[in-house]
Amino acid sequence: MNVHAAALNPAQRFDEPASAFAQDAIEGLSSHPKRLSPKYFYDAEGSALFEQITGLPEYYPTRTELGILRDRATEIGAMIPQGAALVEFGAGSTAKVRTLLPDCALGAYVPVDISGDFLNAQAAALRQDFPELAVYPVTADFTAPFALPHTVRELPKVGFFPGSTIGNFEPFEACGFLRSARAILGAEATLLIGVDLEKDDRVLSAAYNDAAGVTAKFNLNVLARINRELDGDFELSAFVHRAIYNRERHRIEMHLISRTAQTAHLLGHSITFRAGETIHTESSYKYSVERFNALARGAGWTPRALWTDADGMFSVHALAAAE
Ligand code: AVJ
Repeated sequence: MNVHAAALNPAQRFDEPASAFAQDAIEGLSSHPKRLSPKYFYDAEGSALFEQITGLPEYYPTRTELGILRDRATEIGAMIPQGAALVEFGAGSTAKVRTLLPDCALGAYVPVDISGDFLNAQAAALRQDFPELAVYPVTADFTAPFALPHTVRELPKVGFFPGSTIGNFEPFEACGFLRSARAILGAEATLLIGVDLEKDDRVLSAAYNDAAGVTAKFNLNVLARINRELDGDFELSAFVHRAIYNRERHRIEMHLISRTAQTAHLLGHSITFRAGETIHTESSYKYSVERFNALARGAGWTPRALWTDADGMFSVHALAAAE
């Protein structure tokens, strides 16, 4: 997670070229329907709000996945060859890898994240608690090909992609990610991946429309970020957060709905809204086990093992690179 982008101003805190956020925001807000990529949620403020979301009573995914990783740590650890390099795609928090460490003998841990600052802070904390563990952070956008450090070239590779972050990709992007992960990790690799399962609409709707309004703040933060970093003048109180389940497409959609007809600006561009017009800010795809397995097979992976919680809310898959 934490796919951060950079500020244009001197208060720059993140590493991604500033132009990427600017370009994507202008292009997305000039499109019909209007859209913004969920990867821009995660500046420092957005990452803190996401941390808050993970502790909400309605937001089941994080605690359910952690429960699976904890309860099944021995079996999951058995999928990780001795001396393997564990490559984590998007290192949001080290809580999940920490649950695996006691049950495997890693040769190296390679967290990959676009925010170098965040990554290095997480790596430092992990090195303190596990001084024996070789930690090689890689600052890269993991949605594009990147090189693994030379130090892990000879080690068996295990990819780790928890959090159902794959759910934020369109299905064709998810397929592309799985293919590229296979290319990066190599023909002998294993991939451990957390995938949120399809379930009752009401449970999904509650998880993305929490009573405390933290998800609303998280969603609105992308506009606050445009104001901060792209010289924007969006009136936050003029937009409402809404998450709806799109049953045909198996996805929760988050939207920001303009309360009134209005015009906002960023970097000198005017963005005009009709009353009720929405910005689509995130899709969170939910998969059945069968649909996820089909996706994985189509991307060059063979399903090897599957763990779920007792209520069937969330899944952790072990995939093997197919030859
Ligand atoms: C980043 C995929 C874990 O889709 O559930 C939480 C982000 N968005 N609430 C998800 C999110 C709204 C989240 N993941």
